[in-house]
Amino acid sequence: MTTAKLRQMKQAGEKIAMLTSYDFTLARLVDEAGVDMFLVGDSASNIVCGNDTTLPITVDEMIFLAKGVVRAAQHALVVIDMPFGSYQVSEEEAVRNAIRMLKESGSDAVKLEGGEEILPQIRHMIQAGVPVCGHLGLTPQSVNQFGGYGLRAKEEAEAAKLLHDAQLLDEAGCFCIVLEKIPASLAAQVTKAVSCPVIGIGAGNQTDGQVLVLHDMLGMNEGFKPKFLRHFAQLNETIKTAISDYVTAVKDSSFPNENECY
Ligand code: KIV
Repeated sequence: MTTAKLRQMKQAGEKIAMLTSYDFTLARLVDEAGVDMFLVGDSASNIVCGNDTTLPITVDEMIFLAKGVVRAAQHALVVIDMPFGSYQVSEEEAVRNAIRMLKESGSDAVKLEGGEEILPQIRHMIQAGVPVCGHLGLTPQSVNQFGGYGLRAKEEAEAAKLLHDAQLLDEAGCFCIVLEKIPASLAAQVTKAVSCPVIGIGAGNQTDGQVLVLHDMLGMNEGFKPKFLRHFAQLNETIKTAISDYVTAVKDSSFPNENECY
């Protein structure tokens, strides 16, 4: 998969499927099952590390996780999230961190959150040869500014800013834009207004593609069921049943049996 192919997919009206991944073993299954793009998301801060927000994860931790995903990727393009604090301070620091993340992890592209405020950083990265994916709407690194994870851009002023930001990112040369948790009608408008592919999460089905957090769509994240999320499996139950069967078999000495011994 390449950024040029993704653009062709948009033009041809072929939908793009993206999922997060954070480790080699699951990423291999995700790749074999046919996704077009991996996102090594900073949601790893929640999913892998158990933090309440995405804010604590570091550049080094993101690189460590992405290396495993890159080793598994035979087909899909790998996008790595730039974590909070790695691109906001200055253009120079942003470019340095982006290049380091691509070189050390082997990822194909970076994603960062924000619009006009971080346009200088995005322009410098693209000039330096870094493929950039934008992220607008609910940008979880700003959770403390937003005061929660609610729907964004429902008011006219915020919706107008989002559309303007998307056009700026597109003109700057972003190869794709993620829109998170915004009204479906606004996401459809943005998708039509920009030339790069738009990938939605909680943004309706008129975008060029969809992204979900792998552990959420597999039903591994107990208690997390926002309206936009579909559980494509219930792995919580499957995994817990398997583990409790194992515990029982160990305790009643039925595991290992004769065939499982040397
Ligand atoms: O980090 C992440 O998983 C993301 C997706 C929710 C788009 O940014």
